[in-house]
Amino acid sequence: MPRDHHILNPMASQETLISLLHLDPTPMDNASIYEKELPPLPNEKPTSSSTASLGLSGSRRGPIYYLTRIQRYSAYTFGFFTGLHLTNTAIIPLIYRSLPYSEPFLLLTRELYQTTFTEPLLVGLPILAHITSGIALRLIRRRQNITRYYGGATPGMWALHHSSTSSSSSSSRSNSHTRVWPAFTNVALSGYVFAPLLASHVFVNRVLPLIVEGDSSNVGLQYVAHGFATTLDQLPWAAYSLLIAVGVGHMVWGAAKFMDFAPPPGWARNTVDRAARKRQRRAAWLLRAAIALVAGTWAAGGLGVVARAGRADGWLGGVYDGMYGWMWQAWGEVWENAVGLVNQVKSYCYAA
Ligand code: HEM
Repeated sequence: MPRDHHILNPMASQETLISLLHLDPTPMDNASIYEKELPPLPNEKPTSSSTASLGLSGSRRGPIYYLTRIQRYSAYTFGFFTGLHLTNTAIIPLIYRSLPYSEPFLLLTRELYQTTFTEPLLVGLPILAHITSGIALRLIRRRQNITRYYGGATPGMWALHHSSTSSSSSSSRSNSHTRVWPAFTNVALSGYVFAPLLASHVFVNRVLPLIVEGDSSNVGLQYVAHGFATTLDQLPWAAYSLLIAVGVGHMVWGAAKFMDFAPPPGWARNTVDRAARKRQRRAAWLLRAAIALVAGTWAAGGLGVVARAGRADGWLGGVYDGMYGWMWQAWGEVWENAVGLVNQVKSYCYAA
């Protein structure tokens, strides 16, 4: 009788399910794995040649390597401005409960982030680089998936529909190897919602003063308060609440993902190992608590103190009325032109 009977009685892998269960499946878009290039297909040229042709040395690093790093470091750079901005627009107003006392801090730190050199380096370029690298990564991943699963030909609508219906009816939805677009995680989704909210915030607080006044010297917390007090209905409340909630959620969870602290997407469904599940649940709750703390602080200072400070009087109130008035008038004209264009297209279509 042999001492180790497993050697002579090998078992099929399905019968050793328990040992398989201990493997913790990690989705492809977990930070460190997501950054890796997929190995080339047998009929594909290695990435080295494509990067070398771009003049990016002869290493095996492809565009995904560079784009993931641009996305990560642009977020860290913008984090510096975000920290200052949270302090100026929420923490200091919360401490002083007065705009005239809080305003000098904003004006002081503006010297750091609003100079000819620092504004593009700390604010403009990081935002632009972060958004464009994210979209480029998504498109490259999509292209790689098409090459792998459809041999490079763009799949027709029937193929896409068939693959999605057959995969959703199978026991494992996430096993759809025919999925063309990379997974839309909460961080990705919140990023696409955050972008237009941030763009309109920057337009009102930075671009509008430049267009109407030529600079930002009269702009500060009182300008924001005036906007809240003079804009009809709940628009600014809704816009700022969304900006804070979506923006803080995206930034905190995204930073945790870059630092490999956030649980991988779909962890609650995919993680089987008890210790790993416990660790990931704790990380998720810690992140939710951090988001609630930062968003709560921003809402308490920005909405609770700044937004409720009321309109500015006298000469300054007139300057602010001029700026907001210009914006609403321009918006009215843009809207009218858009409606006119739609009507023209409609009448052209009916006539054809
Ligand atoms: C209630 C909350 C907020 C208030 C009261 C507020 C207020 C302001 C003010 C007064 C400015 C003009 C600053 C200056 O000219 O020095 C500004 C600009 C800006 N804010 Fe906010 N903000 C809030 C939330 C946010 C959030 C959540 C973000 C996202 C990170 C953000 C991003 C920006 C950016 C990128 C600029 C342009 C800065 C520049 O180009 O110099 N803000 N905001």
